[in-house]
Amino acid sequence: MAIVLEDVSKTYEVKGRKVEALKRLSLTVEEGEIFGIIGFSGAGKSTLLRLINLLEQPSSGSVSVNGTELGALSGEKLRTKRKKIGMIFQQFNLIESKTVYQNIEFVLKASKYEKKEVKSRIEELLALVGLSDKADSYPGNLSGGQKQRVGIARALANHPEVLLCDEATSALDPDTTKTILKLLKKINRELGITIVLITHEMEVIKEIADRVGVMTAGEIVEESDVYSIFSHPGHAVTKGFVQDIYDFSIPPHIQLNDNSDVITIKFLNENAEANYVNQLYRHFDCDISILNGRIEYIQDMPLGFLMLHVQGEAQEITRLKAFIDESKGIERAEIYAETI
Ligand SMILES: Nc1ncnc2c1ncn2[C@@H]1O[C@H](COP(=O)(O)OP(=O)(O)O)[C@@H](O)[C@H]1O
Ligand SMILES: [Mg+2]
Repeated sequence: MAIVLEDVSKTYEVKGRKVEALKRLSLTVEEGEIFGIIGFSGAGKSTLLRLINLLEQPSSGSVSVNGTELGALSGEKLRTKRKKIGMIFQQFNLIESKTVYQNIEFVLKASKYEKKEVKSRIEELLALVGLSDKADSYPGNLSGGQKQRVGIARALANHPEVLLCDEATSALDPDTTKTILKLLKKINRELGITIVLITHEMEVIKEIADRVGVMTAGEIVEESDVYSIFSHPGHAVTKGFVQDIYDFSIPPHIQLNDNSDVITIKFLNENAEANYVNQLYRHFDCDISILNGRIEYIQDMPLGFLMLHVQGEAQEITRLKAFIDESKGIERAEIYAETI
């Protein structure tokens, strides 16, 4: 049971010109996971979500959700399945003339929810998203974070199997983004709802995703668990996204030659030993100065970076690099050296 896209293409015709938004894309999102899709604007992310939520059909290929192939559905079955797929948006898409309560009621009525259960369901949803005291407020009087909470409550109204999030935090400030991501994670873990979340921000992926797909020009070019994406990005686009987060660049006054090198060390998992640089000092006849350092937490797992300026005999520098390469759980971060 999962979301499975097989060899999916989607082509739009714009003024006689063909735009290939998705190119023979295959992807499996496992049931119960949070799958993040990151890509620049125009990569095809929203198109991908619209195929999963049944707003559009692929030009070729198939999409199935929890064993049901969506292309085969029509009429009542299509409407029923659509209810099982919730969606939240960057701009919240609330009805401004209705209260918070009425915004959720609207969805429940449209899906012919048992009348006598509507009120208790809305109360339950508002409690879940922490807005019990805002039932009678209008969207215009809510903060961005509160609006998105209403969006989430509304998306969950029909007990969906899947929640799709299209840039759901892109209109929010960083602190509010964190609280909304926490809420989404709680919903995923406590209610077991599979989440597919698209974003152009690596910070969002870092906070919440179990696995991630990197998308560019209608294709998923790399797919992996989140820690691996941050520690060992493979594709150039992924490296670009990861680099944005670390932002390590070599200070302009540093000369690079046979006797002067910049080495960025990467500490994986629990290996960020404080005495590692001490070992380098002790074992090698080099001058070592620290240019930059940082520990990122990918959810709870540390990933450390240390940028060193090493000066000495060429041979000694080579030996030092070999020592690093042989150290367990420690690597040289080649990609950061490429930013010179
Ligand atoms: N309804 C549409 N009609 C024509 N072209 C579209 C339509 N939707 C998306 N596109 C085109 O498909 C490509 C992917 O768009 P989109 O899925 O919105 O990317 P993203 O969400 O990653 O920014 C873009 O080139 C976009 O212009
Ligand atoms: Mg989009």
